[in-house]
Amino acid sequence: MPLVAPSLLAADFLHLDRECAMVNESQADWLHLDIMDGRFVPNISFGPMIVEFVRKVTKKPCDVHLMILDPGNYAQEFKNAGADHLSVHIEACPHLHRNIEQIKSMGMKAGVAINPHTSLSDLGDILHEIDIVCVMSVNPGFGGQKFIPHTLERIRQLRKMIGKFPVQIVIDGGVTLENAPSIVAAGADVLVAGNTVFRSSDSKAVIGQLKRS
Ligand code: DX5
Ligand code: ZN
Repeated sequence: MPLVAPSLLAADFLHLDRECAMVNESQADWLHLDIMDGRFVPNISFGPMIVEFVRKVTKKPCDVHLMILDPGNYAQEFKNAGADHLSVHIEACPHLHRNIEQIKSMGMKAGVAINPHTSLSDLGDILHEIDIVCVMSVNPGFGGQKFIPHTLERIRQLRKMIGKFPVQIVIDGGVTLENAPSIVAAGADVLVAGNTVFRSSDSKAVIGQLKRS
């Protein structure tokens, strides 16, 4: 059974209290929070202040996905805001090992996010150091995009590379009730879902359905 991480980006930001209560009452395992800086990706979302407010009312671990340049400059702020997991983009980190050490030394689970075009072999020498690989199944920056089918092949390849390391494969972008079973069958551990969850009239039921993928 996969873990499910609703992505807050698709939530109603005027009523975050209600949205967090729904996630609390649901079978969701994590809450996924997308941080975009308008530089690494062509969109701006929200920063540590929202994470801090949300952290106060959510019972689920907060999985923070940094789509920002120089993530090392902000790791402490997100730790202070209550992030439980912090993922940085391999494409934004010329000193990735240092970033991972920093995140772990702060007591957070460390993740590496990877864009659709980036070779998985770039992860080969860091897999034994990390907790999470966040495989982007869309080009990051926006919710509501279409799942890139080649991701399934990448999941299978990554599963082999991971072998016995305790690394979780997170799939982020375009996850739907229709494609979730094939994503899980390919070897994913965690499904991130924004629009599929929050744009549904019965979000809790959708989370339950994704869990049964
Ligand atoms: C995309 C983000 C995703 C996004 C997923 O850049 O990293 O987490 O919120 O949204 P959906 O599930 O709507 O594609
Ligand atoms: Zn994300």
